[in-house]
Amino acid sequence: MVRDLAPSSGDAGFLVVRRIPSPSALLWLIDMQASAAALKRHPIVAQRWLTRSDHRRLKRIRDHAEKARRAATYVALRIMIAALLGKRHARAPMVRPLGGKPRLAGVPISFNLTHSGDFGLIGVGRRGKLGVDLEEVRDSLPMALKHRARIVEAARAIGSDRVLVPERDRDVLQAWTRLEAFSKATGRGINRTLADFGIRKQGNARLHTQGDTVAARARSQMPRYVVRDLRLPPRVIAALVRDV
Ligand SMILES: CC(C)(COP(=O)(O)OP(=O)(O)OC[C@H]1O[C@@H](n2cnc3c(N)ncnc32)[C@H](O)[C@@H]1OP(=O)(O)O)[C@@H](O)C(=O)NCCC(=O)NCCS
Repeated sequence: MVRDLAPSSGDAGFLVVRRIPSPSALLWLIDMQASAAALKRHPIVAQRWLTRSDHRRLKRIRDHAEKARRAATYVALRIMIAALLGKRHARAPMVRPLGGKPRLAGVPISFNLTHSGDFGLIGVGRRGKLGVDLEEVRDSLPMALKHRARIVEAARAIGSDRVLVPERDRDVLQAWTRLEAFSKATGRGINRTLADFGIRKQGNARLHTQGDTVAARARSQMPRYVVRDLRLPPRVIAALVRDV
């Protein structure tokens, strides 16, 4: 269990952040758009927290608005780490292996980030592996029913919270966040995860078309992990995956 943190005091008060209750991780939902605007008005706050490794990552983002939104997430992460472990750890360099899961060098904590549209979500845990994924709800989801069915089947097998229906866009997005969060907890990436589950072809692997087969493969991946759908504002769908 991680110590509760109220995102309202100190520099966190400059950000528009809401804590999402969870027994197994500390979760902050960030309104990246509003937080980026606040940081623009108070640039000293961003200067105080962002490290060289953050600036290196931000440099690779071309779109200025996206860059500002992403910076707000990195500031929030570092404020969380400072509150939990002290300022020394909060300034640790972010190590980003090619295609792998980012980590904070020498910091005894697990974390993961996700962004979609105006929102970002940060998950932090004291130990083990953790993955989060968030999707902002779109007007409609153009996806063939057979793909929807595979995704929902795998997600249904790995997540116990709620039954999902492939015809419903919100349920398909929820299913997708479960699979993404799982891929982010393990650090394997979504393509490898979809191939492991038999949802997407990789190399010579066979693609499974039967829902039961997809579900069986998904279940076989899951004994060490727990999946939770997160209750967030209406426009946002998200999932948290933790190892047990
Ligand atoms: C990166 C990835 C895990 C999530 O992407 P996404 O759903 O579009 O984006 P999200 O906003 O949910 O998550 C992005 C965040 O996840 C984190 N992340 C990146 N790679 C990750 C990985 N392998 N595992 C866990 N988290 C990862 C980062 O913090 C990133 O945000 P940041 O760049 O601002 O720090 C997904 O795109 C993926 O699987 N990529 C595979 C990359 C890969 O396998 N490359 C191989 C060739 S190099």
